[in-house]
Amino acid sequence: MKSVAENTSKDERDAKVFALYEQLLEIEQRLIPTGLHVFGRASSAGEKIDLLKMIASFDRAEAGVRALPENLVDEAVREFVSAGTEAAVRFLEQKGLSAAETRPVFVLLETVSTKLQTNNELDSLVRALQGEFIEPGPGADIIQNPDILPTGRNTHAINPYGVPSAAAFTRSEAVANSLLDRYRNENGRYPEAMALVLWGLDNIKTQGEGVAQALWLLGTRPVRDALNRTTNVEAIPLAQLGRPRIDVVMTVSGIFRDLFSPTVQLLDKAVRLVAQLHEPLESNYVRKHVLQQVEQDACDLDDAAVRVFSNAPGNYGTNVNFMVMDSQWEREETLGDLFVTRKCFAYGRDSKGSAIEGREARVAMDRALARVEATYQNIDTFEIGLTDVDHYFEYLGGVSKAVEKRAKARPAIYLSDSLSRDVKIRTLEETVRLETRAKTLNPKWYEGMLKHGFRGVAEIENHVSNTFGWSATADAVDDWIYSEVANTFLFDESMLERLRDLNPHSAHSLVQRLLEANGRGYWDVEDSVLEKLRDISRSLEDQLEGVA
Ligand code: BEZ
Ligand code: MG
Repeated sequence: MKSVAENTSKDERDAKVFALYEQLLEIEQRLIPTGLHVFGRASSAGEKIDLLKMIASFDRAEAGVRALPENLVDEAVREFVSAGTEAAVRFLEQKGLSAAETRPVFVLLETVSTKLQTNNELDSLVRALQGEFIEPGPGADIIQNPDILPTGRNTHAINPYGVPSAAAFTRSEAVANSLLDRYRNENGRYPEAMALVLWGLDNIKTQGEGVAQALWLLGTRPVRDALNRTTNVEAIPLAQLGRPRIDVVMTVSGIFRDLFSPTVQLLDKAVRLVAQLHEPLESNYVRKHVLQQVEQDACDLDDAAVRVFSNAPGNYGTNVNFMVMDSQWEREETLGDLFVTRKCFAYGRDSKGSAIEGREARVAMDRALARVEATYQNIDTFEIGLTDVDHYFEYLGGVSKAVEKRAKARPAIYLSDSLSRDVKIRTLEETVRLETRAKTLNPKWYEGMLKHGFRGVAEIENHVSNTFGWSATADAVDDWIYSEVANTFLFDESMLERLRDLNPHSAHSLVQRLLEANGRGYWDVEDSVLEKLRDISRSLEDQLEGVA
């Protein structure tokens, strides 16, 4: 007989091993781009199999296609690629799945597979240069909407009056709930106010998932008019919602503002509707905050209910990314202040029906951000993540830094992964770690990049700089990340040789960025490491000046 203590520690050990196993699986299964797209070139066999597996893992109610079971996708898709639809259907029949259920998946994969082999990009470019018509296709993520194939077409957006689609709205309930559950597990209560980042292209790709998540947080649902246009919202009764309505501050990109004007109106309308509901204040944080503000600032309800912010008309972006990259800033709060300076223009319609179209509303934005306890952005693609581009940290990092000063506390920062089978909410720190392991430090990823020579080294350096952006805006990068970047790319002599041969400029920038990370207090590391980095930096400078 074992003692209780021994059993408990065994259970604890098993739980730890299992958690570790799950983490490893998460990293292993993460789909990553292994190299840049070469214009005019069709995907390789390996890329094709990976894509088909992802496509087969998604339910597509609209096309009557059910996802293949997780444990069989790999084998079934390989069978399909090597022996065709009927063989794959038979394989799954032996595992107890009916042909009627699985055949539609492979019919879809056949179409995708054929379209992946045709690449019209160069032809279309030449035709476009000759002034010919290029037929448009939907702009989307290939996994969410395989109809984007073949590539080499113009992209059309979507009808903003169709946003959010019924499917996007349904899907978003679970995301909003998981987000609130995660915050509640960590803080013991709901966040009273959240700041959301909404982008245009993302809401095109997902038919408005981000928009739907905002509506759910507020406890509202879209209402269609006689022409089937989403022009109105209604409140979901509190009894049905089963939780308080969250105050949502929306910072929308310039592209979103331009493409989704009716949606901007819809979101503003939702906030104003909720603010006017006669409900207990502990169940309606929008109303609670709006009434507080009316009293404190002696302003009217209209001004206190402004929640949709973007750039001034005709303006785009936050410039936070440029400020970070140029290394000329002194205090972190400047980054958050710049975000507000760029994004403090309100959009919507007041209670008298007058349009608010980019009205400067800095005080209103400061007040709204001062109440925010969590910030959030929906991630809907495997192709572009937190460290691939500087836009995530300029927006989500920028707004989080702005909140930190105004609320006098760093908000919880979350991202969703709406591409995974089960809704997954991660903290920013978790996402940075996952991205780093799956991409920046993953030989499959960086060797894929290095095949592109000069550009590949620039991509590696970009990833490190974008990671640094998460230190500057959110202090979300662990020391080990910078240490491993140094070990992998600079302290491995043969790797350093490759980088300096292919692109000494980017190699030098990479070293400088690491030194900056240390200089600004984001990377705690021994002096001997810094000395080695300075030596490498000097030798790269000599090389660039042609001395060496
Ligand atoms: C957008 O689609 O709204 C967007 C695209 C790139 C950067 C920022 C925003
Ligand atoms: Mg640190």
